Amino acid sequence: MDWGLKNRLSRIIRPDGRTVMLAVDHGYFLGPTSGLEDAAKTIKPILSYADALMPTRGILRASVDASTDTPIVLRVSGGNSILDEDLSFEGITVAMEDAMRLNVSAVALSIYVGSPNQKKTLLNLTRLVDEGQRYGIPVLAVTAVGKNMGRDSRYLALACRIAAELGAHFVKTYYCEGFEKVVKTCPVPLVMAGGKKLPEMEALELTHNAIKRGAAGVDMGRNIFQSESPVAMIQAVRAVVHDNATPREAYDLFNSLKVSRKSPGKPKLKAVSASKEELGRH
Ligand code: R5P
Repeated sequence: MDWGLKNRLSRIIRPDGRTVMLAVDHGYFLGPTSGLEDAAKTIKPILSYADALMPTRGILRASVDASTDTPIVLRVSGGNSILDEDLSFEGITVAMEDAMRLNVSAVALSIYVGSPNQKKTLLNLTRLVDEGQRYGIPVLAVTAVGKNMGRDSRYLALACRIAAELGAHFVKTYYCEGFEKVVKTCPVPLVMAGGKKLPEMEALELTHNAIKRGAAGVDMGRNIFQSESPVAMIQAVRAVVHDNATPREAYDLFNSLKVSRKSPGKPKLKAVSASKEELGRH
């Protein structure tokens, strides 16, 4: 791996081999998603706790402070909408030149293994990998799952392995029964997708299970920004990912931070330790 590409990837996956990515790219096919109606307002207070932010180009330009030093993983595939029957028909929506102009640390696209557009989306991946190799930009492959597609370890291991074989530098996939098999057979770092909003404790358990089974971290959206306290939730997720907190410890942290917004209380885990500042990024 070339130095520039390695350097960019190391800004996303921290020295402990872990990452908490904040996904806010939902609008690229869902429009104004609940919690992201005013994306700037949602992103601002949680941005500094994220190891990386995953937005679309439009949201990045319109809603993210350009002085941030949080690395950007730019969503560069799309062309569909929730109104489509089949969401797999995606093209590349951002030229690598513009991604570089935006100073992104990586680009992300969805692949639809087993869908009618499998070949097109896999060739989207190989095109991005070629361009990424040329300019030193890592590529994140998101293993998208269509309405009638399974989410079992056999399918997800197949999709993740194909992504890695075709050159993805890291892969995002769903948690499933037998997740360790998916991780073990994927030779590049694998981050877990968050999925639909769960009660906070369940989302923390999901995170813990993924980390325990070898995930390099999470790329989580709704379970953070739709939480009753997104700032507390992202710190609780960080505690699991970076400090190996148990779900219970992280949930206690969530509650103490949530409460401390009204009346300052003492968190059980050192919340600041999970922040970017303490990880020495600045
Ligand atoms: C998946 O294809 C997109 O990147 C989603 O917008 C993102 O993964 C959603 O995150 P979450 O499921 O955690 O809300």
